[in-house]
Amino acid sequence: MNAKSDITPSPALDAFRDVVRSRRSVRRFTDEPVPEAVLDDCLELATLAPNSSNLQPWEFFVVKTPELKAKLADACLGQNAAKTAPVLIVIVARPDTWRQNSRLALKYWPEDKLPGIVEKYYSKIAPIHYNQGPLGLFGAAKKTAGLFVGLTRPVPRGPYSVNEMKIWATKSTALAAENLMLALRAHGYDSCPMEGFDECRVRRLLKLPRKGLVTMVLAAGTRSDKGVYNRQYRFDRDTMVHYL
Ligand SMILES: Cc1cc2nc3c(=O)[nH]c(=O)nc-3n(C[C@H](O)[C@H](O)[C@H](O)COP(=O)(O)O)c2cc1C
Repeated sequence: MNAKSDITPSPALDAFRDVVRSRRSVRRFTDEPVPEAVLDDCLELATLAPNSSNLQPWEFFVVKTPELKAKLADACLGQNAAKTAPVLIVIVARPDTWRQNSRLALKYWPEDKLPGIVEKYYSKIAPIHYNQGPLGLFGAAKKTAGLFVGLTRPVPRGPYSVNEMKIWATKSTALAAENLMLALRAHGYDSCPMEGFDECRVRRLLKLPRKGLVTMVLAAGTRSDKGVYNRQYRFDRDTMVHYL
């Protein structure tokens, strides 16, 4: 199945493979800054990640000022990656922006004519699909209705709660984070995604939106000689990839 000899070589594939294979989690960076234009391009590429209903439930907080960065590194439990990186990017999922972003999705529609189905999706379906109501009661009602209707036909099984909305936003945000890491690598820079941080402190320090979730803090820069701690390895693919 999909033997390697079936793969048609191409420069784009070689370049992609090189970017993916050379990306590593780097724990020590040099002092060399990431140029503004590079960072800007990487963030642009990050936001081109696929995302649920194109509601773009993410935000990126770029921290470069030494004083704030030092405090943020401290909130990242003093990890070497955070302490040595010239820039830290706090990647925040927004489970709470779907309503305003539904309006934006209509406003930003890129064609002359807005299709009726798109109009209906963002103005009628999304407000039902993503709204969980006060105390999550509307979500609970949707879940109950889904259980009954689902006995006879396929139905969406969520998001049915505030917690499921957090997962919803985090999925798309994690994809943007990966785009960002690969974009940095393609520009010749490196990164380290971190979930080892004190979220309360990160929130307070950056005055983050109340309902935002810090998905990752990304350290970015140029890898130093001893920046990668070990050779990359993964478990046996047969235990994780299943052809049915
Ligand atoms: C969600 C997430 C959280 C991570 N948190 C940390 C972290 O706090 N500190 C760290 O040094 N590496 C962290 N990593 C990096 C992983 O340890 C690393 O991706 C893994 O060991 C595989 O190595 P590689 O990225 O070099 O392939 C994290 C990675 C992900 C995706």
